[in-house]
Amino acid sequence: KGDPRLKSISDAIRVVPHFPKPGIMFQDITTLLLDHKAFKNTVDIFVDRYKDMNISVVAGVEARGFMFGTPIALAIGAKFVPLRKPKKLPGDVISEAYELEYGNDRLEMHVGAVNLGERALIIDDLVATGGTLSASIKLLERAGAEVVECACVIGLPEVKTDQSDLLRKLDLCRVES
Ligand code: PRP
Repeated sequence: KGDPRLKSISDAIRVVPHFPKPGIMFQDITTLLLDHKAFKNTVDIFVDRYKDMNISVVAGVEARGFMFGTPIALAIGAKFVPLRKPKKLPGDVISEAYELEYGNDRLEMHVGAVNLGERALIIDDLVATGGTLSASIKLLERAGAEVVECACVIGLPEVKTDQSDLLRKLDLCRVES
């Protein structure tokens, strides 16, 4: 809060009403990616926070978490691990289900991508219910990593507090749209 870079980031995110269905205010980060300065500011804010926290793995959530997670990983000197939708990864995986508004989905991670005791940061573009990040935390912890924090670009106000035990590490939703 109070960081002058936040306004440029917030201004670069396009809000599209009623996409992909009526009543949803879609937060479109493709316009942020088009704005070099705002995109760099976004990555830099996370890099400033995490560069000296001894993080060895950045896990990014498909698909938009990849776009922010990879430059952050490169800049802080960590490896990048993709958390993917089902049946995309070719090797052995561990898998974690999570609930969606209608039905459920799964995230998968390659076995062996993360070693016991590694310090991990989980990156996504947006948290809504927190279900996706909760599943991500479980995957990393099952692999023996220590999840230092989860961070996302956009925090919607409707994050449910009943998930706060799982989202204890989620304390950096810096841009309110
Ligand atoms: C969106 C978003 C987060 C997730 C947040 O992804 O990018 O990953 O939903 O929702 P939650 O906090 O309620 O779990 P989406 O499923 O649309 O996938 P995509 O990035 O591949 O389009």
